Amino acid sequence: MTDFPSDFTWGVSTSAYQIEGAPAAGGKGESIWDRFAHRPGNVADGSTGDVATDHYHRFPEDVALLAELGVQAYRFSVSWPRLLPEGRGRVAAKGLEFYDRLLDLLVANGVRPWLCLYHWDLPQALQDRGGWTARDTAYYFADYAELVAERLGDRVDTFLMLNEPNVHALLGHLAGQHAPGLSGLSDYLAAVHHQNLAVAAGVERLREMGAWRLGTVVNLQPIEAASDSEDDRAAAALADAAYNRASLDPLFSGAYPAALAPLMEAVVRGDDLQALRRPLDLLGVNHYTVQTVAAGEGPIGLRVVEPPPGSEVTAMGWRVAPEALTRQLLELKERYGNPPVVVTENGAAYPDPPPVRGRVDDRPRVDYLRRYLQATAEAIAQGCDVRGYFVWTLVDNFEWAEGFTQRFGIVHLDRETLRRTPKESFRFYQRVVAGGRLPD
Ligand code: FCB
Repeated sequence: MTDFPSDFTWGVSTSAYQIEGAPAAGGKGESIWDRFAHRPGNVADGSTGDVATDHYHRFPEDVALLAELGVQAYRFSVSWPRLLPEGRGRVAAKGLEFYDRLLDLLVANGVRPWLCLYHWDLPQALQDRGGWTARDTAYYFADYAELVAERLGDRVDTFLMLNEPNVHALLGHLAGQHAPGLSGLSDYLAAVHHQNLAVAAGVERLREMGAWRLGTVVNLQPIEAASDSEDDRAAAALADAAYNRASLDPLFSGAYPAALAPLMEAVVRGDDLQALRRPLDLLGVNHYTVQTVAAGEGPIGLRVVEPPPGSEVTAMGWRVAPEALTRQLLELKERYGNPPVVVTENGAAYPDPPPVRGRVDDRPRVDYLRRYLQATAEAIAQGCDVRGYFVWTLVDNFEWAEGFTQRFGIVHLDRETLRRTPKESFRFYQRVVAGGRLPD
């Protein structure tokens, strides 16, 4: 049960704003995260991604780490405003050069590039025109996707459209906790629908251009009702619809889930729903935890229930529940006819000790990864078509509204010197990748 298929893809995931730094280098335009992080009060420790891990300058070191780790694939995102400072039109040549060099180096090291087109850092210039609340953004996205495919696509193995549109809609457009900091129900619904349109438009555009594997990425977590009461069960069903199904039902079956459909009517136009149905070559699933929901106040009438005291949680307060990953993958298989799936993010934040003589003892992370890998293997044993697994993340980085207070890396970052030190979890994952199985 702990062996993985021989053609399984092992990888690591990162995202542009969380690692690159260099917010204005080479004429890069401002992104919504540049703007949001600089507004006092938005990020727990007052930090920004201005330096992040300085990947923009240190990427050769990071690629060397990937090579040492032995992964076959690297999922990273391109910063839209680094290529198109205004979001459309004028191209920043220096931005293209940066990704050119990164791609060349990955390929030279035998690491297959999995390029994610959008991981939450929308050009601020497009936000000024409404961002994801505006329908046009979906079509600007397709134009941008075309540019990337044309100029960088020759070295790309797999294109992924959007990272977690569900989380981006929820935290950025309803809860106000992420960029762009919006909090209206209509902003949220528009962001859901327009991101779905962007995925469909992006896939359509790239299909015409080449033979890449095309996919997109969502964050999925089983939603449990806080009690057996009818209200709590209805709240959990609505949360499931809004969180897990709002991007997937349209993609697989051209419809919004019943609990959400009446709300979506405000933004759906004409034959949108037919357009949203797009066959993908793979679905990226990011998974970290499980959620409990009860009926409550708020714009959509529900509230998230904190894990009971004594629960096993990570430093983020997220419950450790590996069996929920197995359940989630089985649910996907049942709901959508066993689509090819890749776990594109999984990992955990823990308060790691600092390096001692070049070693970082992060046993809790090793334990987390081992159990979640076991859960992945279990889903495969039960017939789920899981084709790969990517750890979140390579080097400790800027964790959005948590700033640098949370460490998710399998490589430790010293924020003063920016020195990288592989943790025990790096060594553990290296052994998993080399053997294609969980070591005892
Ligand atoms: C996911 C995000 C990723 C990272 C992890 C911890 O939701 O896609 O950027 O922040 O959570």
